[in-house]
Amino acid sequence: MNDKELVAYAALDYIEDNSIIGLGTGSTANIFIKMLAGKISKESLNISVVASSVISQKKANDAGLKYISIDQVTSIDLYVDGADEITQNLEILKGRGFDLIREKLLAQMSKKFIVIGDNSKIVSKIGQNYFIPIEITPIAWKITKILIEKIAKKCIVRENMEKNAFAISSYGNFVLDCEFNYSELDTLAKEIANTPGVFEHGLFLNLASLAIVSNNGQIKKILK
Ligand code: 5RP
Repeated sequence: MNDKELVAYAALDYIEDNSIIGLGTGSTANIFIKMLAGKISKESLNISVVASSVISQKKANDAGLKYISIDQVTSIDLYVDGADEITQNLEILKGRGFDLIREKLLAQMSKKFIVIGDNSKIVSKIGQNYFIPIEITPIAWKITKILIEKIAKKCIVRENMEKNAFAISSYGNFVLDCEFNYSELDTLAKEIANTPGVFEHGLFLNLASLAIVSNNGQIKKILK
């Protein structure tokens, strides 16, 4: 198994029968979804799933998982998702996909949130490898961008794959990718969230209770 497969496999240990599992988005989460489907069928488990994005919803359907729409869910036992950056303090950066609001809802609502990733995700400071994604409403996006730029070093509006228009989230929003000079991540997260026009952002602080990381076949767990 490669590192992504190893962490997805390790996360299966936390699956309990008769539970509701939140499914993440991205290449690592996709592996987990497939492995989860295999475990459910092998062990005849009673598991329902809720998806963090349109893509993971499709993956769940393709894998034949018992799917519950997010608007019908009132409790989630476990959410397993990938990340773009992970610190030793379990500060998490997410959002290369666009559905930040669904990812944040699952992370916040789940009894346990496990982050899985290979060692490339480990950073000493959030923002080291990626800009911080901020989903904003298009209604006055230029104003929101100007307001965010007052606290950011640089912000760019994310483009679509074809690079001929802005990327649009599942909820019709734009995404700003921003670089910040900051000292307190909590304060930065609050400042971003308090800016008018901001829908959600990619800083997941005090939400994960465990990260499972693999480096050249060696699994390491970071616990809160
Ligand atoms: C999507 C995410 C992904 O989980 C993150 O980008 C990691 O993806 P991958 O497993 O493909 O490296 O946050 O919004």
